[in-house]
Amino acid sequence: MAQELTTEDGVVDALRLRKALGTFVSGVTIVTTEVDGEVHGMTANAFTSVSLDPPLVLVSIAAAAKMDDRIKQSGRYGVSILCKQQEDLSLHFAGARLKQPIAPEFQWRKGVPLVKGALVHFACTVTDSHPAGDHTLHVGHVDALYHEHGDPLVFFTGSFKSLNFQGETTWEF
Ligand SMILES: Cc1cc2nc3c(=O)[nH]c(=O)nc-3n(C[C@H](O)[C@H](O)[C@H](O)COP(=O)(O)O)c2cc1C
Repeated sequence: MAQELTTEDGVVDALRLRKALGTFVSGVTIVTTEVDGEVHGMTANAFTSVSLDPPLVLVSIAAAAKMDDRIKQSGRYGVSILCKQQEDLSLHFAGARLKQPIAPEFQWRKGVPLVKGALVHFACTVTDSHPAGDHTLHVGHVDALYHEHGDPLVFFTGSFKSLNFQGETTWEF
């Protein structure tokens, strides 16, 4: 059990918040957009569904990240949900210096760039951008989606994992 999270004082600071939120398992996405003919990408796990009808999703982007202004400029973004083989892409688009640099390839869907080889592509048009603390919540209408089979890349307590499915699921939603 994580000792530092079991204290009773309820203190909220950036480190404890990050650690606590890191126990909420997520997938990993690359958010992409195009500005002045140039493609930009950023690794993000603050991605969520918002509405089925109309189809809306949301990405939460740090106001300090270059991607925030770029999405505001273009009014469009792509979300590529990564598969377990794409860990190097997630590091690349988080600004890490890889020992073996990579050259990501993009695929265009409805005028939006997306990362090749991902499990899911969402091509989105921004409907609302809400400032929220030090982030901006960019709500996007899903104009098109493309879904491949495969296993997702998973992020948990600050590191990448892959799922090992064992046995049958008890519930299907
Ligand atoms: C697994 C993972 C998830 C991340 N999720 C987010 C996120 O949801 N929102 C965000 O603003 N930054 C997130 N980041 C950090 C950005 O990827 C990183 O700060 C990036 O370098 C910002 O790039 P930019 O300033 O060039 O746009 C994440 C990083 C990693 C490794």
